[in-house]
Order: sequence, then C-alpha cells, then structure tokens
Amino acid sequence: MTRAPLLIPLAALAFLTAASAPEAPRPDPIAALKARLEKGLDHLKFEDNAFGYLKDLLAHLGVNPDSQMLVYSKTSFQSDLIGPDKPRSVFFNDTVAVGYVQGSRTLELMTATAAEGYAFYSLDNDPAAPRFVRYQDSTCGRCHGADNYAPGLIVASSPVAADGTPVFIPSDGPPRLFNFTDQTTPFAERWSGWYVTGTHGAATHQGNGAVVYSEDGQRRPGAANTQNLMSLADKFDTRTYLSPHADIVALMTFEHQARMTNMLLGAGAAARRGGFPRTQLEDLLAYMLFVDEAPFPAPVAGTSGFTQSFPAKAPRDAKGRALRDFDLTTRLFKYPLSYMIYSASFDALPADARTEIYTALYAILTGADTSPRFARLTRDDRKAILEILQTTKSDLPPAWKKAAL
Ligand code: HEC
Repeated sequence: MTRAPLLIPLAALAFLTAASAPEAPRPDPIAALKARLEKGLDHLKFEDNAFGYLKDLLAHLGVNPDSQMLVYSKTSFQSDLIGPDKPRSVFFNDTVAVGYVQGSRTLELMTATAAEGYAFYSLDNDPAAPRFVRYQDSTCGRCHGADNYAPGLIVASSPVAADGTPVFIPSDGPPRLFNFTDQTTPFAERWSGWYVTGTHGAATHQGNGAVVYSEDGQRRPGAANTQNLMSLADKFDTRTYLSPHADIVALMTFEHQARMTNMLLGAGAAARRGGFPRTQLEDLLAYMLFVDEAPFPAPVAGTSGFTQSFPAKAPRDAKGRALRDFDLTTRLFKYPLSYMIYSASFDALPADARTEIYTALYAILTGADTSPRFARLTRDDRKAILEILQTTKSDLPPAWKKAAL
C-alpha cells in the first residue's frame, strides 16, 4: 500500500514543537495506596463475606463496580478456580485493573506505572491486614509480558471448550492460547470465553458460550440463549458477585483501552531506547483515531450503568463535548480520538515522543496530512476533535491554540 507522507516536512512544523517539558512522573496508584496503608494513614475495610477487601479496594482506587467484566476461560493465573459457573471478575478504570476470583484469597492488580511498564500486584484477602505483594519476576510476566510491556493488558477471544478449558490455536510458530482482540476485531470474532450483557441487535458474538471448540480446534455452536442478554442469572449464580452485569460497553471500552495502553507503553519504551520508528508512530495514531475500528453491525447498549458513569467526569469543551462520549450506534465513541490522551500513560511518554505524536496528529486534524490511512476521519470528526483538545488539553504545542478548521 502506498502512503502519502504522514509528516509534513519537519522544518515547516518546527514552530509547533512543544517546549520540552520534563517527563512527568507516572504515579502508581497501587504503590501509593500500599504506602498510605503501611503508614497507617488509610484503612481498607474488610467485609466478612467472600469479597473481603474488594469493595473498599475498588473505592480507594476509584474503580466503579459497573465496569465489571466476566471471563470464564481458564487462561489466567488462577485458572483452576475459574469456569462457566465461576467466572472471574475484572474491574477497571483508566489506570488500574483488578481481578477477583471466587473462592480465592488472592486479588490480582495491574497498573501502568513509571518508566518500567506495568506493575503487577496481588492483595491477600486476609482479615488480619491487607498485604500487597509486587511481582517483578515471571509470575505474572510469563503471560502479561516478561519485559513488562507486551502484551501487557490482555483481552482475548480464545477458543475454549464448554467448561472454559482453552484449546490451543495452531500456528506457524508455537501453538498459541490467545486470540487478542481490540476495536479492529470484527464483532463476530469477539469474546469467546467471556460473559456479555447488553443488546446488539442482529449482530452475533461468541460470548456467553455461543461457540465451543473441541480439542482438535473444531468450532461448533454452543449454548442456546447467548445473544442480547440482559441477565446472566440462568448461567451461574450472579448473587455471589459484586455486580450481576458483564456490560458490553465496559468490555468494548476496555478492549480499546488495553491495546491503547500497551501501544503507549510500547512507544515510550521504544523512545527511551532511542528510536520511535515512523511505522510505530503511524500505528499508534491510527489506533488512537479509531481509523481501523470494526463498524458496529447494529447499535449496542449496556446494562450496568457504565455508559452513563464513564463519561460523567470527562473534561468537556464549551459546547459540552468530550472524548469520553459514547456513540454506540455505528462506532464506540462519538469523537474518534482516544480519551487515553488524558492518561498518565500518555503524559509519561518521553517529551520528544509526545511532541512527535502531537505534530503528526496536528497534521492529520488540520488536513495537512492527506494520507489514505486517515481518510476515514471526516472533516467534522477532525474539527470536533481539534476543538475539544484545544479547550481540554493543557500541554498542546502553541500553534494548536490558534488552529481552526
Ligand atoms: C497463565 C497466564 C497468566 C498469568 C500467569 C497471569 N495472568 Fe493475568 N490475565 C491473563 C489473561 C489471559 C487475562 C485476560 C482475561 C482472561 O482471559 O482471563 C488476564 C487478565 C488480568 C487482569 C485484568 C486486566 C487484563 O489484562 O485483562 C489483571 C488485573 C491480571 N490479569 C493480573 C495478573 C497478575 C497480578 C498476575 C500475577 C500475580 C497475573 N495476572 C498472572 C493471563 C495470566
């Protein structure tokens, strides 16, 4: 495929370059909480039920239980405790993800932190005291990325048997367990091994056991009643969960965010090693701008309230527009630029890499970059994104302030 130049000549854009801001420290909210607890400055409430610290932990980390996703594939750390009758809960916000497994004392936590990539923790659900352990060896890294970057956060639609046992995917290399999914994955290929609540019209997905795989990798139809579910009560005992929902909008948002975070951390790592190749920059921008997003076959609606709570605290421009506003009719977001541009992961990019991203993004939004890869963005999209950023992002290079479409 031929591509028109993404960057207009650098000399012409030199005036756009942001003053080299010092690299912002990337806070690790889990380490901060751990320190406050150890110093006796804070307290986590232990509930004398299956949840233990879970509820108060989420409250302290600013994670809303309506973000709950439920995954029953036996593909993770505590897989022997996980199955279709006991799916694992995963909760998230922009910086933290928390895993909770029924019948386990170990809560699993991940955050994108400092320059080191991801940080992995467990929290022992012990009434005596909340004890965090940080893992810097292969305990978590053997799946989440030995180098702490790739793949990092994981969302995968992995072939599983009816009981959640993964079936290896043959490949040219070693057989794989994960079919990673993101916003570019066609709807019909998503969510094998996950529960999903919400409506999506005539579109079908592989969640809720709709598809099962036999050991030889053959795919066949699975359970009945798997699409457009408002409740999972006939699948497992939802009363033992913090929330009965596995909200489709939360899942699609996390699917976007997981890959976006992995890409931002990957860009930071590359830049620190001394190279942020142009292809990596283009791929990052294409993902940020949703240009390869799989179109929605039908409108989507969630069940948990996530659709309302997620945009509630968003930075908004004078017209009330925010990058966190959902569309959900033909695409995930109304204004197709990732809200992760406000995240700690973005802010922690080395200043030069951030400047390169801003410079290239500016060229795309103002129409100076006409490469076909970004042609899907309409003029209205570009104009809205530019205007939203102009009033909600404080570290833009000076030229952005004046630009108008
Ligand atoms: C055997 C592979 C494996 C190991 C080891 C593993 N995980 Fe995971 N983890 C996964 C997979 C796969 C997912 C995605 C959800 C799923 O399929 O269960 C996941 C998801 C998560 C999530 C939710 C965010 C996300 O990436 O989707 C957290 C938090 C998490 N793991 C924490 C940990 C921690 C902490 C450790 C180490 C104590 C760990 N994991 C070890 C495979 C693993």
